Amino acid sequence: MLPKNEIEGFVKETLRDCLLTHDFSHFKRVAVGASWFVGLLGGDKEEQDLAYIAGLLHDSVRPDTEKVDHAEASADKSRGILEGFGIDSNVINMICQAIGDHRKPVAWESPLHQSVYLADKILEQMGHYVAFRRCVYVGECRDYRNKPFEESIERHFAYRTAKFGMGAFPQGFQGLTKKMMEPLLEFQDHLKRREPWALSLARFFFDIGREKSMLMDDAIRAFRPDGELAKKWKKETLAYMEGGKFREWSELVQVCF
Ligand SMILES: [Fe+2]
Ligand SMILES: [Fe+2]
Repeated sequence: MLPKNEIEGFVKETLRDCLLTHDFSHFKRVAVGASWFVGLLGGDKEEQDLAYIAGLLHDSVRPDTEKVDHAEASADKSRGILEGFGIDSNVINMICQAIGDHRKPVAWESPLHQSVYLADKILEQMGHYVAFRRCVYVGECRDYRNKPFEESIERHFAYRTAKFGMGAFPQGFQGLTKKMMEPLLEFQDHLKRREPWALSLARFFFDIGREKSMLMDDAIRAFRPDGELAKKWKKETLAYMEGGKFREWSELVQVCF
């Protein structure tokens, strides 16, 4: 039997020196999401548990820059961690394959293989939630350290949108991807039009990232929305953070297996 709880405890205690956007709450959400995707793709309980572990470890090495590929480094580090738990080498290979390929689409070999990528890119990089998370990330990312706020935010949103279009996701998840992309593109549009609510949200979370003044989840909970749209963004984000969106999302997925 896999020591899932022990690994989770280890991750929580040990992988602390991390970015605000890549802390235990991100690891845990990707773990839950990866396991959910494996279930949708027809994987059994054991494969769901492997995806959960892969999600917990997928950003075990995560520098504050986009210029380094952290996926391979995370896979290497995870291999050492999992060996320490006495896990079978074939199982380690499967988990590390999912971790090593979580940064871009490849020819997927199994539900487990694609699960971390799908959870990380669809659930954590889209939706209303990403408006908050991405602004914190730009604030804490070394690549934008000496660049002005608005230009950095605009540039990073545009870079990510160009990198992960609809074509970067499998056919069966196009409905979910489209639904998740809508609020991302909408927020980007509000920013482009310099709408005060969007700029003030972006500025607040960018500063959290720069100053590392509080944990990102706490900042989202403490955030006082400025108007109806900001209120909507926060409400949808909290629903995701509390695990309340999976039923709605399941109905958007069409996977045959
Ligand atoms: Fe990552
Ligand atoms: Fe991640």
